[in-house]
Amino acid sequence: MIIETINLTKRYGKLIALDNLHLNIDDGECFGYIGPNGAGKTTTIKILSTLLQPTWGEARVCGHVVGYESRDIRPLIGYVPDFFGAYEDMVVQEYLEFFASAYNITGKQRTRVVSDVLELTDLVYKQDAMVDSLSRGMQQRLSVARVLLHDPKVLLLDEPASGLDPRARIEIRELLKELRKMGKTIIISSHILHELAELCTTIGVIEKGKLLFHGPIDEIIAKARIGTKIHIRVTEQQDLAAGLIEKIKGVSDVAQDNGRIIVSLASQTHDFSVIAATLLKNNFRIREIREEEVNLETAFMRLTKGLVS
Ligand SMILES: Nc1ncnc2c1ncn2[C@@H]1O[C@H](COP(=O)(O)OP(=O)(O)OP(=O)(O)O)[C@@H](O)[C@H]1O
Ligand SMILES: [Mg+2]
Repeated sequence: MIIETINLTKRYGKLIALDNLHLNIDDGECFGYIGPNGAGKTTTIKILSTLLQPTWGEARVCGHVVGYESRDIRPLIGYVPDFFGAYEDMVVQEYLEFFASAYNITGKQRTRVVSDVLELTDLVYKQDAMVDSLSRGMQQRLSVARVLLHDPKVLLLDEPASGLDPRARIEIRELLKELRKMGKTIIISSHILHELAELCTTIGVIEKGKLLFHGPIDEIIAKARIGTKIHIRVTEQQDLAAGLIEKIKGVSDVAQDNGRIIVSLASQTHDFSVIAATLLKNNFRIREIREEEVNLETAFMRLTKGLVS
């Protein structure tokens, strides 16, 4: 177990930012941490980065306890905060050399390590540019480059893609996929859910300091699936078709929306062949019939609204 929290609780005065959090993250996992603003994501990541102390409960990173063994944890982690620090009057290469020195990486090794991370983060062509002349996306990549210098086992990334344009987001995602392949354990918080779906192996959903869900992505989607919805389009006489479907056993609701009939099935069955057969028997021509997809976005909205317990 790379990350383990037990009853992890953080209070800011009366506010309970984290409420008895139990998290388990395995070696090599890419864990997506999702939650609305103020949910407690940054607080969790800061505790795991040893920058904050829990009020009670325990957080362990690679077996070391935050607070008691923070010194042992720091070399093992790379923390990318949700803002970029100010070191404007340096060029990219100096910036990385500065941080490498802070990790006691010196001499030839430093030159090699800096050139390696520049390569990995696609910043070689910017090595002589001033840090403050970089675009936000490049600064973000530089933030990642910085925490890779000491080759940490665990990466803690707090919304690394926020404020980036679509292209820069894809670049960050590709970079993270690369790092995942290298065997790093990655914890990433984000509001951009479909991005996490492609990147992460597991997901945790947090709201008001409580973990609502923790598990594989497909499980969260299955959990958020409350009954099944079928979308149907017929070539004509939609009202009539809707009336017909309403009478079919197992149909709990029929609505019409934007040229579509949306049918809710009462049970967990995904079988809509009876509906199709009924329509065909009554000479309706079906243009489309499909099950509504429950994506991460929908799953997240349902979970955080407390619709699923
Ligand atoms: N230093 C602090 N002092 C007092 N309250 C704080 C402090 N830091 C965070 N909080 C509160 O703790 C709660 C959790 O904040 P946190 O920053 O962890 O949320 P978050 O999930 O990262 O949100 P966001 O998506 O907006 O980044 C919020 O209610 C926040 O106002
Ligand atoms: Mg935050």
